[in-house]
Amino acid sequence: MPTATPKPCPRSTGSAATPPPSVRLLVVSDVHFHTPLFQQHQVNGGRSLTDSPSRLSTDIALGDPQNPFYALLRLVRDGKVKADVLVCCGDLTTCADPTAMNLGWLQLHRLADALKAGEPVVTAGNHDIDSRFKVSGTSPSRALKLLDPPFPSADSRAAASYWSNGYCILERKPYLRIILANTCALHGYSTETDRQSDHGAFSEQLLHEIPTAIEAWRAPLNILLCHHHPREIDLPGEDRSVARDGERLLATLERLGQPNWLVLHGHRHLPSVKYASSNASSPIIFSAGSFAASLHLRIQGRTANQFYIIDIENTDAQLRGRFEAWTWSQHEAEWRRGEDTSALPASGGFGYRPYLAHAAQVIASLVPARMDGTISWRDIETRAPDLRFLLIDDRSPLLDLLRANHGIEWESPNGRPMVGSGFLRLGRIR
Ligand SMILES: [Fe+2]
Repeated sequence: MPTATPKPCPRSTGSAATPPPSVRLLVVSDVHFHTPLFQQHQVNGGRSLTDSPSRLSTDIALGDPQNPFYALLRLVRDGKVKADVLVCCGDLTTCADPTAMNLGWLQLHRLADALKAGEPVVTAGNHDIDSRFKVSGTSPSRALKLLDPPFPSADSRAAASYWSNGYCILERKPYLRIILANTCALHGYSTETDRQSDHGAFSEQLLHEIPTAIEAWRAPLNILLCHHHPREIDLPGEDRSVARDGERLLATLERLGQPNWLVLHGHRHLPSVKYASSNASSPIIFSAGSFAASLHLRIQGRTANQFYIIDIENTDAQLRGRFEAWTWSQHEAEWRRGEDTSALPASGGFGYRPYLAHAAQVIASLVPARMDGTISWRDIETRAPDLRFLLIDDRSPLLDLLRANHGIEWESPNGRPMVGSGFLRLGRIR
């Protein structure tokens, strides 16, 4: 098991003299590259596909303007998207399609190269594991293990730990630690009552070893990347794929104290940002929506194809950050920033956990006294910068308090409060 080596910890007081340690992530998840003929013959019993699994077919030219991956690559090459680290939360392919997996892996490396971000930080998804032995015949993870460049990392020590212990630790910056968890390590195994590929799981080694493994170095920025969700998201009851021991994992990270951990996952194609608990040291759970998967009917209207830019920083041991969601417009064949959809809003934050009544007082003092005057949420954030890191889910109760206690009403173009901060406006009703 690779253990973190003691390192000098950069100061994290966030004073004007020295900026706090920070990092920008580009997060893509559930890209689901696929080969149409493989899907038809290996998956669909020879019957033609009625629905494509994703927008990323191996039949689409790498430079086709309709190709969402190429569109992102162009944004990076044009300098419109920049990041220090490229992250993918798994499901490179669909049904362990070997051709598409190779293509997806090479595409992620091309993107990371364009970002000058080093090797991509990627974990395995259930669709990357041949748990039904359709193509491998030996190990369900054979195709992943034989990728070139090596998966998940060219660091052979880290890769060995990932495959044998179900996790590894990557230290990508002097102040950034990433734990890669393999929640699919038991896929392909089953008992009479439990088919492991039906759900994710965190390994025993990970749960036992985290506290010791990170003891030597209290990194200011800590991320745990996994594919399956450690906690159920608001979903129809038929889904049972939540990662086993997810609650144990979240409790373990919480017990480590501050700075808080950021847990990044994919799999459900339902984006959300939440705190694991109300405790000050609880992790932040960021569920990334799918980059390109065709969206299942039952979640249409609640999600979209998105990628994310996440800026995180550590100030006074509090992890806080901002995200920007880019949404794919099939009509325009382009990624759009600032588009408010049914998925995550165009932008938002996490890490500022105020007493809401106090935050409402601060906001009320900024709203114009004139009955015909309004102020945008973005201007409020500029004048009270902590509010940039308010959790998007905290916005509704805060707006309710503003109405009830201060006579302040809000409006937005789509009538919903969860919109990009430039679209929400506040004014007095009494
Ligand atoms: Fe998945």
